[in-house]
Amino acid sequence: MYSKRPLNTHIGGTSILLFGKWFTSLEFVVDGAGTVFSLYQRLGRDKSFAIPALNEYQVLVSSEQKVRELGESAESVLSFHTAMEQRIQHKYTLFGFQHNDIDPHNDIAKRVIKVLLRINLPQMQQGLQPLVQDLFKQELTDRDSDGWSQASGFTLAKHLVTRINNYVLLGEKLASDPAFEVAVNRYLQDVVVTMELCRHLPSFLVPLVAPAMMRWSGAMHFIGRSVTAEVEDRLVKSNGTSQDPSKPCDGIQWVIDSSKTLEQRTVSRLAQQIIAILFASVHQMAAALVYAMYDLCLHPEFIEPLREEIKHARSATSYEDHFDRLPLMDSFLRESARLSPLDALSIQRVALSPYTFADGTHVPTGNLVAVPQEAIMQDPDHYPDPKKFDPYRFLAVDEADGSVRAFPKYTDVHWNYPFWGSAKKACPGRWFVSRTLKQVLSHVIMEYDVKLADENASRTFVWTTAIVPRSSTKLMLRARK
Ligand code: HEM
Repeated sequence: MYSKRPLNTHIGGTSILLFGKWFTSLEFVVDGAGTVFSLYQRLGRDKSFAIPALNEYQVLVSSEQKVRELGESAESVLSFHTAMEQRIQHKYTLFGFQHNDIDPHNDIAKRVIKVLLRINLPQMQQGLQPLVQDLFKQELTDRDSDGWSQASGFTLAKHLVTRINNYVLLGEKLASDPAFEVAVNRYLQDVVVTMELCRHLPSFLVPLVAPAMMRWSGAMHFIGRSVTAEVEDRLVKSNGTSQDPSKPCDGIQWVIDSSKTLEQRTVSRLAQQIIAILFASVHQMAAALVYAMYDLCLHPEFIEPLREEIKHARSATSYEDHFDRLPLMDSFLRESARLSPLDALSIQRVALSPYTFADGTHVPTGNLVAVPQEAIMQDPDHYPDPKKFDPYRFLAVDEADGSVRAFPKYTDVHWNYPFWGSAKKACPGRWFVSRTLKQVLSHVIMEYDVKLADENASRTFVWTTAIVPRSSTKLMLRARK
């Protein structure tokens, strides 16, 4: 660990050397996010700093110049894919998927999500509406004498997002099988538990423990077999061509059509790629959704203005287009994410070779470099009165016609709003997130009264730098008259 010590930067945190490198800092495990936040506040944004983490130092940069430098750095020096590989353990958790020469820049996933999903989603959304309605009815069964039902907010959000993603990405045949839906929910839970546990194991144990954990429930292999069979079926039917106009419109088909080389088109690689996209699409979106639902409960004064905006947009245009006419909801989502990011860090990169920033901050090989997004997005110099939840914060009047619009939009990337990552590698799923969250929130706002069962109950817990919704936090919903 000492050989990895960064230079020309402040080293924070308390290093507690217990049984070896995987217990380097207990403080990082139990409150990495809090440590980062308080160091940023103490040192100010221009100073980089580092904290001892599990196997490495985490070097945090927050000035405009360094955030841009990090975002623009070459993958061969400061690597995004290595950071993800180390965190997610793809090989074991994503049905064998690996970032490698088969698709070195992740172009297939990016084309599927950023182009094909984005273009096709608006036409698919009307068809998704009954699924959203049914899921609420299914999960909200027991009612008290006033008509209120209780549900775990995070579980509800995960189930909603899984159902929508299954339809959009895997198609109706798989998505309409209840056993498959149960398996996807279980699989996503298995991945999170396995990847977090593996971060605390010595590396020689990971190849033994991770596959065993992923095999335990059988969910990943059940999904893998089902997706593989569906891919085989589609390849046989299409006879290898992508010209059939009656072919399905879903993620499986988009992955097949976007995979061009022989190695990309093997059945196993296609199935792995689809499962990798499925995983990328669920966990963070469910967390963002539940935080937005909590914000509705914590700030009920904004529900009526949001309702009016939805009614107005629906009366002015078609169902599929009205999601583009909800500036207040867009700003609400951006504000919700600003105050409730899903991790204290963003733009995470692993140094594959030593790297020295223009200001002299020196990062030896093997360390993680990242941006402390929670602290930046709550810095009063960037966002006045930063702790205040103000859903009007990102609204602007268009001087040309006096109309109100979201500015910047929820999906816009900026160095001091790193929620979606860096400009160069920004999340390709952000438009899907934006439309899906608007669809679900609109449903809640138009169809239900909503509140928290206990406003004072803790809603999150911190695990290393992740800020995770508690499954024990209960939402109460009542159908509106
Ligand atoms: C609220 C939900 C989400 C958040 C906050 C989020 C955030 C991010 C961030 C921070 C990155 C890394 C960017 C960087 O380091 O510069 C990223 C990458 C990525 N995201 Fe998302 N994401 C979300 C949802 C989704 C969804 C729904 C999908 C898929 C449908 C998705 C697919 C991806 C993929 C494939 C990448 C890797 C892109 C590449 O290889 O360059 N994300 N996301």
